Amino acid sequence: MTSATILITGGAGFIGAHVAAALSAAGFKVVILDNFENSERDVADRLAAMGFPRPDVVDADIRDAEALDRVFVALRLDAVVHMAGKKAVGESVADPLLYYSANLSGAMELLAAMTRHGVRRLAFSSSATVYGAPERLPIDERAALGPANPYGRTKLMIEQMIGDVAAADPAFAAISLRYFNPVGAWRGGSIGEAPTGTPNNLFPYIAQVADGSRARVAVFGDDYPTPDGTGVRDYIHVVDLARGHVAAIARLLSPDAEPGHRAINLGTGRGYSVLEALAAFERASGRPIAREIVARRAGDVAACVADPSLAAELLGWRAELDLDDMCADHWAFQLKPSRA
Ligand code: WQD
Repeated sequence: MTSATILITGGAGFIGAHVAAALSAAGFKVVILDNFENSERDVADRLAAMGFPRPDVVDADIRDAEALDRVFVALRLDAVVHMAGKKAVGESVADPLLYYSANLSGAMELLAAMTRHGVRRLAFSSSATVYGAPERLPIDERAALGPANPYGRTKLMIEQMIGDVAAADPAFAAISLRYFNPVGAWRGGSIGEAPTGTPNNLFPYIAQVADGSRARVAVFGDDYPTPDGTGVRDYIHVVDLARGHVAAIARLLSPDAEPGHRAINLGTGRGYSVLEALAAFERASGRPIAREIVARRAGDVAACVADPSLAAELLGWRAELDLDDMCADHWAFQLKPSRA
């Protein structure tokens, strides 16, 4: 049983809460720091109700240097998982400075606090969006980087910031985890994806059509060069994604952790089209899901699928859950009366 203490910034969010659960399940002590701008304050209650030790929760903004100092002084932190930040592609195009301020300033304040307090192990929540339109598939970590929106550019800039900090401090070790498309929910748990307002992403939208709260799914284009013409993505179960964070933290805290900064894909290596996702969700829910083919969404790529072999090699991690698991677990969460 390890006694290491991990700070999760943004740990009250959809993915953050799953990372908190997976780290707790692995025996780590978890501290959540969140400003609750896009997450629920009862995350500690939910995790406790799932049988995990109640995590300490700090209500603070990642850009507040004094709040960070109080946390780092009060706790003997062994590592940080940095997930706090804004993550809506469309919003980032409409309001880029909001994203540069929130995401870049937040990362700078966190890295400065880690340096001040001698905490030199970091896992960063990055994104496959850093690759932009892929030149070939599957995408490995050597692929060209070319984010097509301010959100993706903030993720890449933060990776580069982390790389520079690691180059300046030979004791610093960091892993940027490039997420593909996280979906699903902790089986039997009370944490999951419940966006406020109109969902930007496919799965929460499908789930709301399945439960009758929306009329139909707009399929953004069926004229892509893909098997059925609709967009193909590498959907990864959020529990597999969370396990990938545990593997990254375990590697960073191991005695032979290599210093420096590595970027590692977290994906399954299997792509599914929009129509395949709709069919899988119909199987899982037993509900027909109305859909309408509409025009392509600006900025979408035809297909985005990971080569996950570096994660297997460096972290000993592979995704284990499939699309049917993702749909069944998302649907079970969607049916919970008190989901959030
Ligand atoms: C998936 C597929 C759409 C909605 C985004 C961000 C990425 C990450 C995950 C933060 C595409 C199609 C979607 C709908 C549809 N977020 N679609 N109708 O765009 O691959 O990735 O979310 O890290 O950074 O870019 O995910 O779920 O929006 O779309 O047809 O109502 O579903 O065209 O092919 P995406 P998505």
